[in-house]
Amino acid sequence: MKYNIVVLPGDGIGPEITNEAVKVLNNVSKRFNKQFDFKYLDMGGIAIDKFNDPLPKNTIGECLSSDSVLLGAVGGPKWDNYSGERPEKGLLKLRSSLKLFSNLRPAVLHESLKDACVLKPEIANKGIDIMVIRELTGGIYFGERGRKNTEMGETAWDTEAYSFEEINRIAKVAFEIAAKRKKKIVSVDKANVLESSRLWRETLISISKNYPDIELSHMYVDNAAMQIVKDPSQFDVLLTSNMFGDILSDEASQVTGSIGMLPSASLGVTSLGVYEPIHGSAPDIAGQNIANPIATILSVAMMLKYSFDLKEESNAIESAVSKVLNSGYRTPDIYTENTKKVGTAEMGNLIAENI
Ligand code: IPM
Ligand code: MG
Repeated sequence: MKYNIVVLPGDGIGPEITNEAVKVLNNVSKRFNKQFDFKYLDMGGIAIDKFNDPLPKNTIGECLSSDSVLLGAVGGPKWDNYSGERPEKGLLKLRSSLKLFSNLRPAVLHESLKDACVLKPEIANKGIDIMVIRELTGGIYFGERGRKNTEMGETAWDTEAYSFEEINRIAKVAFEIAAKRKKKIVSVDKANVLESSRLWRETLISISKNYPDIELSHMYVDNAAMQIVKDPSQFDVLLTSNMFGDILSDEASQVTGSIGMLPSASLGVTSLGVYEPIHGSAPDIAGQNIANPIATILSVAMMLKYSFDLKEESNAIESAVSKVLNSGYRTPDIYTENTKKVGTAEMGNLIAENI
């Protein structure tokens, strides 16, 4: 069986970190006798530079006919004032063209990284294992927006809108994932203010009747932001909208040590997914061989599990990451005293060797 993977390295540290993930996949291929074929394409700022388009048609077409997509990161100050569609727009278009409405962002505190955790030891010791499930193709990211002149001067607006069906399909994903975990969902909204959140909450409550074994509770987003630092061990599945999920997943990643550690899977109804680290393109550290490739490497572990159903191979990557961390190797973002500092490529090599 051959798996066709499209690689979209993107901008900033994207090319460096995707390189390391491909290295690891190549070793998985040797050890488990599986064939991965890689096709490299442009998206983001680099695609703007070459084609004036952050997501060229050819890139979308190749992604649609692939078995899965590995994405580095997009964007950077170079395109901040670009007058056309920005690099980030390419990413949003990719998610919507591939109909990837569900985004899984597991935030796990590795045993050996407790020292890098910013929380007090008595909180960190309780452990963190949260599956953030973020709705990915609706809400304010895709709602109507515009500008007009009013008596208050130039005015701009964006709209948060959710339909029953959009909430229903992401809720089902959450209930099914929760069933395989600790059977607890906290749905995060702002139902004390927003109408879209009230529909979100009502829909969740009505769907929960089909899943009597799963405990569903609700939390306002401001409180959730506080609870993630106060006691992250209380969360199992955290389900939320596109924008709240964007914000809370960055927060959840930092409490596990570093944003450089968190992978993600973006899925729809087929097995085709986009796998990417949750962090950005970090242009300030690009090209210096200091970025942490682990989030990207763990993203390909998710690809093997969710898109290809290769569980043993996926576990082999996760174990290799744990082994290397347990042996004390650290990129600068997770470095603490008495550990061994390594660069992006060394970290990738170490993980690949441990497959
Ligand atoms: C993420 C990123 C993107 C998002 C940006 C780059 C558009 O922050 O994947 O979390 O907001 O979804
Ligand atoms: Mg984000």
